[in-house]
Amino acid sequence: MLRTHTCGELRKEDCGSDVILCGWIQRIRDLGGMTFIDIRDRYGITQLTFSVELNKELYHKAKSLGREYVIKANGTVVERSNKNPHIPTGDIEIIVHSLELLNSSENVPFTIDDDTDGGEELRMKYRYLDIRRNIVRQNLILRHHMASETRNFLHQLDFIEVETPVLIKSTPEGARDFLVPSRMNAGQFYALPQSPQTFKQLLMIGGLDRYFQLVKCFRDEDFRADRQPEFTQIDCEMSFVDKNDIFEVFEGLLSQLFIKLKGFKPDNFIKMSYYEAMKYYGTDKPDTRLGMKFVELNDLAKGKGFRVFDDAEIVAGIKVVQCADYSRKQIDELTEWVKRPQIGAKGLVYVKINTDGTIKSSVDKFFSEDDLKKWAQAFNAVEGDLLLIMAGEKTATRKALGELRLEMGNRLEIGKQERYECLWIEDFPLLEWDEETKRYYAMHHPFTSPLVEDIPKLDTDPATVRANAYDLVVNGIEIGGGSVRIHDKSLQEKMFEILGMTKEEAYRQFGFLMDAFCYGAPPHGGIALGFDRLVALFSGEDSIRDVIAFPKNNAGRDIMIDSPAPIDQKQLKELHLKLDIKK
Ligand code: AMO
Repeated sequence: MLRTHTCGELRKEDCGSDVILCGWIQRIRDLGGMTFIDIRDRYGITQLTFSVELNKELYHKAKSLGREYVIKANGTVVERSNKNPHIPTGDIEIIVHSLELLNSSENVPFTIDDDTDGGEELRMKYRYLDIRRNIVRQNLILRHHMASETRNFLHQLDFIEVETPVLIKSTPEGARDFLVPSRMNAGQFYALPQSPQTFKQLLMIGGLDRYFQLVKCFRDEDFRADRQPEFTQIDCEMSFVDKNDIFEVFEGLLSQLFIKLKGFKPDNFIKMSYYEAMKYYGTDKPDTRLGMKFVELNDLAKGKGFRVFDDAEIVAGIKVVQCADYSRKQIDELTEWVKRPQIGAKGLVYVKINTDGTIKSSVDKFFSEDDLKKWAQAFNAVEGDLLLIMAGEKTATRKALGELRLEMGNRLEIGKQERYECLWIEDFPLLEWDEETKRYYAMHHPFTSPLVEDIPKLDTDPATVRANAYDLVVNGIEIGGGSVRIHDKSLQEKMFEILGMTKEEAYRQFGFLMDAFCYGAPPHGGIALGFDRLVALFSGEDSIRDVIAFPKNNAGRDIMIDSPAPIDQKQLKELHLKLDIKK
């Protein structure tokens, strides 16, 4: 080893020892006659000291170096007179006897510090420099710890990690595939897996009983803060289980991660049906920390001559605690906010339950104080509370009110508290109707089992059939999703038929799975957690990009290696491809 210690480990007890440290120069301060260099590595920062009196040559050498130079310093640990309580090595410094320059550095394009002047694009282009910053490095270390805790936990429970293939076959369901042309099979393509779904089911048919994998998945989707085109799942499958067994294992995994990495256990996992989530929060991933559960006012608010309410399918609102002092301007601003095309509401009605006992609303013309008092009772509102109410078509109104609820949560900074509320959302609809293509799509995926009691409705009323599927939601983030699977060939055939596939098409795409169902497929189910999202949740980052070593930008590009990139004619020819790009 070139060094005896890291830059983060020396303490007062080490005073008098002769040590060698290697690292990068964080900063150099020259106080005329004395030069101090902060030397940094992954483990911390240590102060090196050079004095003109002790060694003139070394003092001048130290002064001539620059930021991010890589050096090796040999010296004696001494107690510092001017201690730095902010860093663990702040009690000591090294009086350097010899100094070796291992490599120099050009001026870095942004400051390598917690508060950097580098913008997102610049930091991504020089991601290796960004990784030198504490915050990025800490996120990667946290990611590593979470991965190894996950492996330990699942290993203890007899799960086996199995690698599934990355070059697989494109299928029409789900998101868009990334495709890889085959050189040896002209005109044919592999697809990168959107998830190892069918493989993990085949592993259950293979009798492995409990499988897991920390696995890269690829989806050609539009960019969002919580999406990357390649991302990692903690993917699992179990045989001879029902959903409660799966809940138990993954509540255990999450609790273990919380205890090991945060030092506390999350509150109990709440179970909520999809129906309840939509009715009370307008979303299938509610952040329950925010409160503000919807209250429906159809019975109280309709039939009083206010057309907007009378014509609406639903009148519903939220109670914003102690915000009755919102000014006219603030309410107008919120009204404009909900009217934006992204939210799409027609308007917003407010009721202020003032602290002086009066009630004031934007619909005073239509409703008496007595009417409004009844509304306030329905919300359990007290003096000082503000009610925000919307009306219209059921689904759209709930969605818009759900957005407003999140916005109020942001404005009141409720979501900033470090508190975790974990929910299982269950009983999702099995199918979603798409008006454009006039067909059903599987809401989770086509291998998800319907609830047994709903199977008869597959023929008569497919839209009302519930799936034996569940999502794990923490603080409003969809952390994972899974289901109990179909393991019966005829039910799987029926599912493909409902999804508009002919028998031939279904067999062409998924014949291997249905064939496997003929050879003793055990009942099985599983789940996949979005690992990047889980790490971002633990580290408090808003974007999963911050917990991925080399992420893609908004346009799906890796701007450091400059990918995707054109390929040359020879490669195209080998792959039997001809480009037809209209400029
Ligand atoms: P699903 O499609 O719900 O289920 O994915 C599981 C979890 O993966 C995460 N996730 C993503 N994370 C980052 N970027 C993306 N583009 C992205 N897409 C999904 C989410 C999500 O909850 N095979 C099934 C699982 C199963 O049924 O067992 C599946 O992939 O956190």
